[in-house]
Amino acid sequence: MSQFDSLRSESPFQNKGQSGRILTNEELEKLQRDQTLVSDFKQNKLEKEAQKNWDLFYKRNTTKFFKDRHWTTREFEELKACRKFDAQRLVLLEAGCGVGNCIFPLLAEDANIFVYACDFSPRAVEFVQKNPLFCSERCKVFQCDLTTEDLQANIQADSVDVATLIFVLSAIHPDKMRLTLENIYRVLKPGGIVLFRDYGLYDHAMLRFKSGNKLGENFYVRQDGTRSFFFSRELLAELFTGVGFQSLVNEYVMRETVNKKEGLCVPRVFLQSKFRKPD
Ligand SMILES: C[S@@+](CC[C@H](N)C(=O)[O-])C[C@H]1O[C@@H](n2cnc3c(N)ncnc32)[C@H](O)[C@@H]1O
Repeated sequence: MSQFDSLRSESPFQNKGQSGRILTNEELEKLQRDQTLVSDFKQNKLEKEAQKNWDLFYKRNTTKFFKDRHWTTREFEELKACRKFDAQRLVLLEAGCGVGNCIFPLLAEDANIFVYACDFSPRAVEFVQKNPLFCSERCKVFQCDLTTEDLQANIQADSVDVATLIFVLSAIHPDKMRLTLENIYRVLKPGGIVLFRDYGLYDHAMLRFKSGNKLGENFYVRQDGTRSFFFSRELLAELFTGVGFQSLVNEYVMRETVNKKEGLCVPRVFLQSKFRKPD
């Protein structure tokens, strides 16, 4: 992962909308030139070692890599309105929770939520449990590979109000994204919502990959063996609706990120979406 993905200072200007980033001819040519794919042997190895590579990521970076994600508390404001009565306890699932940068701000802000959080990295799960804000009465954290292990081993079917999927689906092989969404679908209540945010097509991070890192269309591997997919809104909508979700919001968020260390201003593209399991 690069410094562009880690601690950064963001300018307040962002645009949201249906149309993605338009590349210059030079940028398009750069992407088109890069057609060499990583060998099948190496691709299989990366898939087998996905869990190990993320666990090593947390061994190296501990809890210091990602910032707390306060945008979820802003977005979650709207979702709190889905309570049928004021005292209703909302049940959340943070799928691929990392060290808890999403869940701890939410737990701090709303006393009346219960959070299930899971990740396939044992170290990440341990960091969540060791966080001073962790409270076993309000949070259950467990290890789970979303692509192979049924969430129902830890969560009742049809019981979750809101699932968050934040920069996680991009780390999963495209062939296994559907299985991941089906897994989440089963534990969501009818009417339950998925909050999604992840890398968008032509994000700056995608254009920075050097030749030799391409795994497939819009799919790349970083130096540390973790992988990243870059989503178009069309592909994401197809994935979610294919599993049975209804699309509520599905838009690009474009913002300029200032990298102070390098004195650069870079265009970031994210996809921010909400999908609903029908009643
Ligand atoms: C970029 S981090 C995001 C963490 C957290 N959602 C956040 O916003 O800070 C991606 C996380 O997805 C987890 N992950 C990737 N593939 C997974 C899988 N198949 N099952 C469970 N977790 C996975 C990784 O271990 C990592 O913690």
